[in-house]
Amino acid sequence: MARNPDHAMLARASHDEAARTSFIGALKLYVGRRLRPGNRAFFELEAKPDYAVAIGKEPATPEEISTAMHGNPHWQLWSAMNRATQEQMWASVQDTLLRETPRLTEVWKELCQRSDKRGSLELDPDCDVPEVIRRSEIHLQPGGYTLDRGDDDFLAGAFYESGGAVYSRAQGVGTKESKAEIIIRLLENRYPGFTPTRILDMACSAGSSSTPYAEAFPEAEVHAIDIGPGLLRYAHARAEALGVAVHFHQRNVTDTGFPDGSFDLVVSHNAMHEMSDETVGAMMRESHRLLKPGGVCVHQDVPLRYENLDDYMQFDYGWDLNYNCEPFWKVYATNDLPGLMTAAGFKADDVYVGFADQSDHKFRWYVATAKKA
Ligand SMILES: C[S@@+](CC[C@H](N)C(=O)[O-])C[C@H]1O[C@@H](n2cnc3c(N)ncnc32)[C@H](O)[C@@H]1O
Repeated sequence: MARNPDHAMLARASHDEAARTSFIGALKLYVGRRLRPGNRAFFELEAKPDYAVAIGKEPATPEEISTAMHGNPHWQLWSAMNRATQEQMWASVQDTLLRETPRLTEVWKELCQRSDKRGSLELDPDCDVPEVIRRSEIHLQPGGYTLDRGDDDFLAGAFYESGGAVYSRAQGVGTKESKAEIIIRLLENRYPGFTPTRILDMACSAGSSSTPYAEAFPEAEVHAIDIGPGLLRYAHARAEALGVAVHFHQRNVTDTGFPDGSFDLVVSHNAMHEMSDETVGAMMRESHRLLKPGGVCVHQDVPLRYENLDDYMQFDYGWDLNYNCEPFWKVYATNDLPGLMTAAGFKADDVYVGFADQSDHKFRWYVATAKKA
């Protein structure tokens, strides 16, 4: 299955909109993947000696390297370009989405009002939304995850799916296998014969990782939660457009409200790097509480681990924290996932933390998985 399947809730770009979005995607790839590594030469040849002259010693820590590079005109130019292409990506997608909103609203209403719906949507205006998520435009997504302009507003989810597709291609992620399909393959290899009947996808956003579970395990009841109402309205219609049964709920991962032992499989995708350590710890405790004995959780995320990076690369990857509104970037990159999982109740021998490879592309994801005893 494609990572970005076609469906009725996708905005249709005009020729010129598609050309511009495609250009910006290619420019992002070029700035982020081709130009970025060259910054290291500017560090070695310019910023490091300049810093040594000014301060009397070479920069040695990520913070000192950051000070040195912030004074370097080549890095300043690169950083401004990187920021500008991210802003332009959202602006480009936004033009299509706003032009398409009247048509998509009709599609959305039709999908949500169908009598033969497969799944459901439950919103909770009293849902506890973390303050930092409410007031942040994470990775500069306009309006952020909690954008909510009324009862028929699905723009947050439309932004996430359309912008996210351009964004991930520009990060070098493949377009064939979805993140969920990689995890389904991991389940087959790691837990042969495991066939979940109740599945929960935590922090589901637009639901792109929720639907592949319903497709892979058609006998299972699939639930998915997030705190963003606009994300969930979109996710619900998207799943219906794909003809897949998923039950979406507006709930916080730290306190999901589902009964103890009510799932065989609990997953999250690309969520931990946007959560505080306390939230990730609570999500692990919820995973343990929600699983039946023998049940499995898998939490997958970006392959960003500072323990594998030297001081320069820690500075380099820190860019997203400072300029791409990723408040928990470093918290995630330095967290102790095995420790958080064993503190949540999983036995150390049942925990695996490592990498999962994308089969169609040279890209690796980080995974933390455990089986409940
Ligand atoms: C990067 S997106 C997840 C993407 C999605 N799982 C996918 O694979 O396409 C991170 C999501 O985490 C959600 N989130 C952050 N904190 C949360 C919390 N405490 N409870 C529930 N959802 C949360 C955000 O609203 C956002 O939709």
